[in-house]
Amino acid sequence: MITLLGIESSCDETSAAVLRDGTLLSNVTVSQMAHIAHGGVVPELASRAHQQLIVPIVEEALKQAGVTRSELSAVAAVYGPGLIGSLLVGLSFGKAFAAGLGIPFIGVNHMEAHLLSHFIDEPRPEYPFVNLTVSGGHTQLVLVRGTFDYALLGETRDDAAGEAFDKVAKMLGAGYPGGPAIDRLAAEGNPRFVSFPRPALDDDSFEFSFSGLKTSVLYYLRKVGYRPGDSPQLMRDVAASFQTAVVDVLLAKLMRAAERFGVRDVAVAGGVSANSELRRRLQMEATIRHLRAHIPRFDLCTDNGAMVALVGYEHLRAGRTSPDDLTAHPDLQFAVSRA
Ligand code: KG4
Ligand code: ZN
Repeated sequence: MITLLGIESSCDETSAAVLRDGTLLSNVTVSQMAHIAHGGVVPELASRAHQQLIVPIVEEALKQAGVTRSELSAVAAVYGPGLIGSLLVGLSFGKAFAAGLGIPFIGVNHMEAHLLSHFIDEPRPEYPFVNLTVSGGHTQLVLVRGTFDYALLGETRDDAAGEAFDKVAKMLGAGYPGGPAIDRLAAEGNPRFVSFPRPALDDDSFEFSFSGLKTSVLYYLRKVGYRPGDSPQLMRDVAASFQTAVVDVLLAKLMRAAERFGVRDVAVAGGVSANSELRRRLQMEATIRHLRAHIPRFDLCTDNGAMVALVGYEHLRAGRTSPDDLTAHPDLQFAVSRA
């Protein structure tokens, strides 16, 4: 029996989970509130909040799982990419916790964790599959050929998809976190109200670009003299028009990749995969093309300890553990080859 504790602390979510032989027993996540007043993540506040939360959250994850410390086989924690101060809290805690119990420690790449979040619940994707990870810091299209066999098809040239959601939400005065705010507004808006550009939609590459789209929204708001609070309906219509443009591009590239590589399974992970339009349209597009669509349940879309435990489990089964002197890497790259 392999029982793992997984810890996530790369940005502004403090999370811990317990996984036993691949089955999730608990997943406890706190989205830090300290950033709301600032309209974005403040790194200094994030690391302090992780320090306050890490012990009670790990205790709660063990309690909910009904697992004692002595039953743990290993501890896994994220060591990058992410905010250095945030990473240091989870990584140092995880290493010390493992050392205290005399069990192995596994450092986990946050992007690999999002990618493998599809393997927590049934039905799991079959290899090979194409996955799109869309989060606050990344937009990556990856061909997953097998366990630990990843080929990077394309990334964003500028802003990440989640970053664009957050910035447009700020322009609209929609609040923080921006993605969920836009999602809620868009539900009551007209997606055809403004025809924003679909960057890189028609080029043959698997690269993305969201900075031009974000700037178009800014110019549009300036042109119409938008001021937050003046017109709730305009706010909803712009949110819907922006969201549709992003989803159009994301799905077009994902489906094109599926066709190019002849896969049967397509998947979307990362915080933006919580978006309701993306979820709905992914299912629709996949059905039309006779593909199987995978998208994690909500609490496994945004940052969570469960996906970290899952990656730790896979590495442990493959006999891979981390050296004692593993350090945090804010810019940790994803160990992938180019397709
Ligand atoms: O994966 P994640 O929790 O953290 C990172 O690794 O970055 O992703 C956070 C991002 C944020 O940009 C947030 O605005 C976005 O995911 N997000 C959403 C939604 N929920 C979270 N974007 C669009 N629609 C949502 N419902
Ligand atoms: Zn993430």
